[in-house]
Order: sequence, then C-alpha cells, then structure tokens
Amino acid sequence: MDDVTEPLTLHDSAQRGFASDNYAGVHPEVLAAIAAANGGHQVAYGEDVYTQHLNQVMADHFGDGIEVFPVFNGTGANVLALQSLLPRWGAVICATTAHINADENGAPERVGGMKLLTVASPDGKLTPELIDEQAWGWGDEHRAQPLAVSITQTTEVGTLYTVDEVRAIADHVHSKGMKLHMDGARLANAAASLGVPLRAFTRDAGVDILSFGGTKNGLLFGEAVVVLQPDASSGLLFLRKMNMQLASKMRFVSAQLIALLSGDLWLQSASHANAMAARLRTAVEAGIADGSLPGVGFSQPTQANAVFGVLPDGIADRLRESFRFYDWDAARREVRWMCSWDTTEDDIDAFVAAMKKELAQHTG
Ligand SMILES: Cc1ncc(COP(=O)(O)O)c(C=O)c1O
Repeated sequence: MDDVTEPLTLHDSAQRGFASDNYAGVHPEVLAAIAAANGGHQVAYGEDVYTQHLNQVMADHFGDGIEVFPVFNGTGANVLALQSLLPRWGAVICATTAHINADENGAPERVGGMKLLTVASPDGKLTPELIDEQAWGWGDEHRAQPLAVSITQTTEVGTLYTVDEVRAIADHVHSKGMKLHMDGARLANAAASLGVPLRAFTRDAGVDILSFGGTKNGLLFGEAVVVLQPDASSGLLFLRKMNMQLASKMRFVSAQLIALLSGDLWLQSASHANAMAARLRTAVEAGIADGSLPGVGFSQPTQANAVFGVLPDGIADRLRESFRFYDWDAARREVRWMCSWDTTEDDIDAFVAAMKKELAQHTG
C-alpha cells in the first residue's frame, strides 16, 4: 500500500462567518468518537453496542422509560415525531416561522401527510392564547383535526421559552386532548441559556416527544427522536424506515450523540456559542450607543446563539464580502447572525470592526 492518496483540503479552514451553526465543522471530540467506533463489525440498523449505550446516556438526561430513535437530520426527526403522534386526519398547530412550516419544503405535509395550522407570532413563540386561534373544530369532518402542537426551543428567531412557558403550553395542549412536540434542533443552547437540565423544560414540563438536535452543536450529522411519553406516540420503529431515516451504520450516529451527551460537551459547546452571541450583541449595542454603528438596530432579543440585527440599506451585501450571513427579512433589512461552537472572540471583534468600517465609509 505505497500508493496512499492524501486527503484533500479544498477550503480555508481558518475562515468562519455568521451564516449558520450548520456552517461549522465537526467538534474534534466527535470526530475522535467516530474514529473510536470504527474497526471491526457491528450489527447494522441499530442493534449495535453504541446505540444500546446511547439509550442509557439519554435516559441519564431524560429519565427512565423514554425511547430513542437516532436519525440523519432534523427535518426527518420532525416529520417522524409528528407522524407518530397523529392519525391520518391529524393536524399540527405551529408558528408560521416554525422550521416545519417555513424551511422543510412541505415535508411534514408531503411526506408526513399531515396539515399544518399556522399562527402568526412576532417572536416565534406560541402561547395558549395563540394556540387557541387554531385549536377548534374537533369532530368537524371538514376540518383537519388539531391533535398536536409543535414548538421550537430555541425558536427560529433566536428566542427562548422559559420552563413555565413550556409547562403552561403543555398543560393547555393536554387539556384540549392534543399532544406536544418540541423541535429541539437547538435544545442544548436553550438548556445553556436557561441554566437547567435538559429534562426540566422537556419531559418534566410535559413535552410528549422531542426532536433532539446534534448537528448544530458539533456533530458531523445526527439527531434523535426522543419519545418522552411513550403512550403519546406509536409506530416510530416502522415510520423511521418508511421515511428513509434508518441508518444502516447507526453505530456512527450513536457514537456521536454519546460523545456529545455522556460528558458535558453538549453544554460547553452550546454555552460557548451563546456567549459569543452575547458578546456580539453587547459590542453592537456599544457601537450604537457611541455612534460608531449609526442606523444599526435589533429585531429580536438575543437569548441564545442568534443575533437578529437590522442594518442600514446596502451595508449587508458589502459586509458579506468578508463575513457570510443571511438576510432574514430583506424588506425590513433584517439579518441573522448565528454563532457556533467554534466561533471565536476574535471573529466577533473582527466582524464588529468591519461593520464600523463599512458604516464610516458609506454613511454620514
Ligand atoms: C429549528 C430547526 N429545526 C430543524 C432543523 C433541522 O433541519 P435539517 O433537516 O437541515 O437537519 C433546523 C435546521 O436549520 C432548524 O433550524
């Protein structure tokens, strides 16, 4: 074997921006866990020792009696979780900004076969009152039956539900005979921000089923559907395969989730991403206050790892020549700056300095 091909690096591995926590690479401890799980043979399709161990690791966080289904991605986790809560005639109440509504290309409807009943919410959060805008019409054969509610923690616009807010929603949802799903693509960021264990605002607050996110918190790929109330959900074993989310080499998904969750890597990484967003927020606020960032503002509070800013006309595109980030609502000049487990203080400081430079050159 003299003829070994060297692996290629085709990008500048020192370059980072604020486009998405999905732009970040894999945490070295997660890569090491994949390598450690390599070699030899293990039973495929989830009958391996890593997946068995993951069940225990998840139970350490969420308590006994849960069920864990590792999957490839978050859209798949959401579709599967919701399908397992609903009969064929079921509908799901969610915010218009929910990823399941705005960013999954209709997968819940097209693949999952359910209707989404949306509610406008300026901060991305539902409340019992907002849920009631769509929670009606049971028994009416002309209306898709509202049988589940989906909330996202942290939300798509960077906001956070308190433990009490989740509990109030769960109590309300259950009082109407519905079930509660939580899209936890950024669940670790929420726990880090709230300063409570993962189960405090999920299982203990009454959430029935969870899409547990790993990818945005440093995995190569991998999420899990976690059934917190087994009576609420059925058929996941079959739905996962039917929906093409059953990994044959599942040991490598499970090994990553174990690396994240068996120690405090999940919390360290999420806390770091949140701290970087707080640093960015504080630096921009200071620039607004001292006049070095004229016309800059915010559209949402910063409660985890996202900062939603508002920039003067024309600035975003010029700034993007050095740092990538997305327009959120271009008509409102609203942009999203997302921090990751690998964002550095220097990244933040360089970005804020670049913003100040642009504004000095093009305004005033
Ligand atoms: C709130 C939320 N849910 C779910 C997902 C998962 O999406 P994907 O299917 O890309 O893993 C994302 C990713 O952007 C997200 O932001």
